[in-house]
Amino acid sequence: MTSGLEGVIAAETVLSDVRGEAGELVIRGHRLDELTGCRTFEQLVHLLFTGFFEDLPNETQLARQLAVARVEVFDQIRARLPLLSALPPYDGVRALVALLPDATGIDDAFRLLALPAVALPALIRQRDGNLPVPPDKSLGHSADVVRMLGHNGAANALDAYLVTVADHGLNASTFAARVVASTQAGLTSVVLAGYSALKGPLHGGAPGPVIDMLDAIAQEGDASAWISRAIDHGDRLMGFGHRIYRTRDPRADVLKAQVAKLAGSNARLTFAESVEQAALAELRRRKPDRVLETNVEFYTALLLEAVGFPKDCFTAVFAMGRTAGWLAHAREQARTGRVIRPASRYIEPPSLQAA
Ligand code: ACO
Repeated sequence: MTSGLEGVIAAETVLSDVRGEAGELVIRGHRLDELTGCRTFEQLVHLLFTGFFEDLPNETQLARQLAVARVEVFDQIRARLPLLSALPPYDGVRALVALLPDATGIDDAFRLLALPAVALPALIRQRDGNLPVPPDKSLGHSADVVRMLGHNGAANALDAYLVTVADHGLNASTFAARVVASTQAGLTSVVLAGYSALKGPLHGGAPGPVIDMLDAIAQEGDASAWISRAIDHGDRLMGFGHRIYRTRDPRADVLKAQVAKLAGSNARLTFAESVEQAALAELRRRKPDRVLETNVEFYTALLLEAVGFPKDCFTAVFAMGRTAGWLAHAREQARTGRVIRPASRYIEPPSLQAA
């Protein structure tokens, strides 16, 4: 038995394939670099949902229905924003997700996709003492999120980010989502399982701490010394290492290229690259037998910072994209009709063994 279930095949999927040795991510037959910047988030949702929902509209209609869902959920959550803005943003969004009906139709899926897009900007603005900006259904999903946040531009970068993180094989949160779906629970329950698993720093919680690391190194001025001390202290460097990739995470370069396109990001990017090089050198020195490369979270941090999200909101933006994958996996899992129920090996307490 391996404690992290490495190498265990727990599902068959047509949705995505994480090719660890090659450093490739394939989503429904398309390599990531063929999707990012070429398809909108709504188009990617359509790609993931095809074959899994009755009444799935065409791409254009899907974008419209998702926009209508944003308007509907905004009206539903508005009154609860003052209370929930006291929570950390991730927990506030998760609490609002929990209020949605727990069914399995395409409209339920649209509400679950729409909610974080609307709730996160609204909670951020509420916390800062600003009035929430209602959604505009004439806009694309990412452009509307950026506008609700109160910013201009960078919508393309956010869109590329949401496409990049929408699905990624049987990662921890998708596995959690599939376990819940296998019990025939509704999609809200599925998505809540995904949220809870994604939150931890070993999965989706890393990008905020990446900014903490960059800021601490900027203050100290010596990246190698800071990194060496952190590893001596037993800390893991956030944004490095991956369970499956045995080479660089392909999402890292896709996101880095998006950051490079954003006006005003040059100095931050150059600094981050120097920290990345120092981290990789130290990880190679300390763990010569283990490939520890840059993962998606390192450049996620830079991209979401440049779009204008506060660092304690990065994981909630990740969930905004990954919800698409959780929903598609849930529908795929439910088709098998079989509950996921592995076994454990019982270890007799020592006192009973002796008796
Ligand atoms: N910094 C320092 N050391 C590391 C790091 C890191 N980022 N990642 C792994 N290691 C070390 C481990 O401590 C371990 O050392 P040991 O053998 O002396 O105990 C060795 O490398 C092997 O690591 P594993 O634990 O086998 O790696 P695993 O596959 O379990 O973990 C994980 C992968 C969780 C991503 C890990 O690399 C990590 O903690 N990274 C930092 C957090 C992070 O970036 N999370 C985001 C991941 S991407 C995502 O989920 C969206």
